[in-house]
Amino acid sequence: MDKLVIEGGHRLRGSLPISGSKNTALALMAAALLPDGPSTFTNIPDLKDIDTFSKVIRVTGAGVDFDAAGHTLRIDPTPLAHPEAPYELVKRMRASFYMLGALLGRCGRARVSLPGGCAWGPRPVDLHLEGMKALGAEVELDKGYVVARARGGRLEGGTFRLEPSSVGATVNLVLAAATARGHSRIENAAIEPDVVVFCEALHAMGARIEGIGTRTLEIEGVTTLRPVTFANCADRIELGTFMIAALLAGTPGDTITLEQAGAGHLGQAFLDAFRATGAELHAETDRVHVTVPDEVRAVSIETDVYPGFPTDLQAQWTVLMTQAKGNAKIVDRIYLDRFKHVPELRRMGANAIVVGNEVVVEGTSRLQGTTVMSTDLRGSVSLVLAGLVAEGETHVLRVYHLDRGYEKLEEKLSRAGIVIRRTTYDEFADPLLEHPHEA
Ligand code: UD1
Repeated sequence: MDKLVIEGGHRLRGSLPISGSKNTALALMAAALLPDGPSTFTNIPDLKDIDTFSKVIRVTGAGVDFDAAGHTLRIDPTPLAHPEAPYELVKRMRASFYMLGALLGRCGRARVSLPGGCAWGPRPVDLHLEGMKALGAEVELDKGYVVARARGGRLEGGTFRLEPSSVGATVNLVLAAATARGHSRIENAAIEPDVVVFCEALHAMGARIEGIGTRTLEIEGVTTLRPVTFANCADRIELGTFMIAALLAGTPGDTITLEQAGAGHLGQAFLDAFRATGAELHAETDRVHVTVPDEVRAVSIETDVYPGFPTDLQAQWTVLMTQAKGNAKIVDRIYLDRFKHVPELRRMGANAIVVGNEVVVEGTSRLQGTTVMSTDLRGSVSLVLAGLVAEGETHVLRVYHLDRGYEKLEEKLSRAGIVIRRTTYDEFADPLLEHPHEA
């Protein structure tokens, strides 16, 4: 297995490029199954999740070609013959569940594995299923699979209210509604930038969607959609992660630039919290400059739906707060138990405790490098961030979590002055053979 080894105490400087958005790319890939010909997307990151979803799509018979170096992805849905998504792939990545809406929209039927739980909680899909029923689908569960059918081969359309607002359910319902026979209305729809850009792509395909970017989407089903060439947006979570890295490892007074991304998709709450630390932020259309303060002030946050503070940046913020002056409270209102990184940070010396859905962090802690284990995507990058400021070497195990969502992380950080390397290790090595004196 791969691990990342970070040598703490080196300074981050210069600039870091931001890749295309993973979460938006996944929704775009699902949308590409609806038109009557191949669509092409640019600025698609070369990531494990994109590879997994490509495999999911290929199972149906549709074609997927990825030019990883050119970050260009072409999807041809014309040979699609098997409207199904198997457990073996869906279990690896929940967004595979987008196949439910895409296949119902294209074929009027779908057999898609239920995703199961996730490292930080149950993450239900009840809204996806109830929503599909409201659009006119017959939905049954069969041995861990969702079997959905549209009477007469095409959904009627209908009204559904999402409570709570869900990114995934909004994408799935829009996919299903775009080619329905009639009108659909999705209330309390997600307005995360990923959803907005996905809706814009469908609109470019000829879908009739009103209210894009608002909480109510009105969709008039159409019989055919046309293929498109569409540019994906930048990854707001990677941008936020590197902005936090700049404060942790940049030299006070220095400016670090994040390239190929605007700050707009981050949402006001994150930008406000970031500035409240004392950092200076100067945003242009496609780059963001961060000037590192002499001292990072502690800032408490609560995650919320967009434009609230993103739950996907909560773990990274926790690491930043271990280095801040003062105490901070980090509350996750989206996922109540997304704190698997905290015990690992404590092993590095962080003064952080989990109480219910909150983490209380006391700064400033002296972190020490050690071997830590990642259990999920955002948790794993938070351990890398901790490694930037820890004394000595931090070994982050199981980086396959991180590889799902951060493109060439060690290359990007190395070019910006950080000492980090990838190496392999044996997950099942016998510790008593390696350290006999500890027996
Ligand atoms: C997406 C993102 C993920 C991010 C999350 C929240 C992708 C591929 N993933 O995940 O990175 O952390 O948004 O911003 O884009 N819920 C239900 N029933 C459902 C669906 C959701 O109760 O059927 C709840 C969830 O448990 C959670 C909340 O709704 O409390 C929001 O989850 P949701 O927006 O659906 O997250 P995902 O789309 O899975």
